[in-house]
Amino acid sequence: MAEIIDGKKISTDIKNEIKEKVRKLNEEGIEVSLAVILVGSDPASTVYVNNKKKACEFTGIKSLSYELPEETTEEELLSLIEKLNNDKAVNGILVQLPLPGHINEDKVIRSINPDKDVDGFHPESVGRLSIGARGFVSCTPAGIIELLKRSDVEIEGKNCVVIGRSNIVGKPMAMLLLRENGTVTICHSRTKNLKEIASAADILVVAVGKPRIIDGSYIKEGAAVIDVGIHRTGEGNKLCGDVDYASASEVAGKITPVPGGVGPMTIAMLMNNCYEAAVMQNGR
Ligand code: GUN
Repeated sequence: MAEIIDGKKISTDIKNEIKEKVRKLNEEGIEVSLAVILVGSDPASTVYVNNKKKACEFTGIKSLSYELPEETTEEELLSLIEKLNNDKAVNGILVQLPLPGHINEDKVIRSINPDKDVDGFHPESVGRLSIGARGFVSCTPAGIIELLKRSDVEIEGKNCVVIGRSNIVGKPMAMLLLRENGTVTICHSRTKNLKEIASAADILVVAVGKPRIIDGSYIKEGAAVIDVGIHRTGEGNKLCGDVDYASASEVAGKITPVPGGVGPMTIAMLMNNCYEAAVMQNGR
């Protein structure tokens, strides 16, 4: 039976460490702040934004909240971002996605100063990651690296397979595993021999977005399995991942549960990016 990788505990450890680091910066007279922008009132986004604000409160990061009406124009949003880009008291800027349909998301992401891009979505941040320069990394894949390291899963020299090629998870995940000297394969919807490739993985990261699509038959005995998916099932509205936990945990060596695996790590890494932003902007 696989050992559970406890993302809830690891994320709490990380937030406690950040709280301490922020306290030390405060002692030097440096505050850490995050501007969170939400346009409209999408219920899921509202929950995410509130969780981010709570994590700020916990870690001692000042959160500046901009809750804008659905009808906000692209120009209004861009001018707010411009103002925050130029405000020395703001270290990180986060625009909650998705944005309403009349606003060009790509244009908005590109308008954020890369030095304040704590989500790591700006093309400059993506480029910095790919050449190994200092910059912000998308929080979910950054959190997965922390989960692996803190669960004593060695990456160097290991066969790492990422299923999914999104800009936010799959691609940066592959770059990060490569940075850690893993041997990386990216699989996607057109991959022909998925089972054969997945079952050669020492580390298997599943970010497909389909409930329980990867079962135990795709997994090598003893592999570390990271499940990025989160879905509500028909059965009593319970949560499940992209991995069929029951069969996968019979084969895997270590596995993340859903909920309580990857999910809590995303916000912990966002807090870390805010801390790093303040450090960088203050010339540390
Ligand atoms: N919407 C869903 N996930 C995210 C995220 O990580 N960052 C932002 N900005 N919006 C999101």
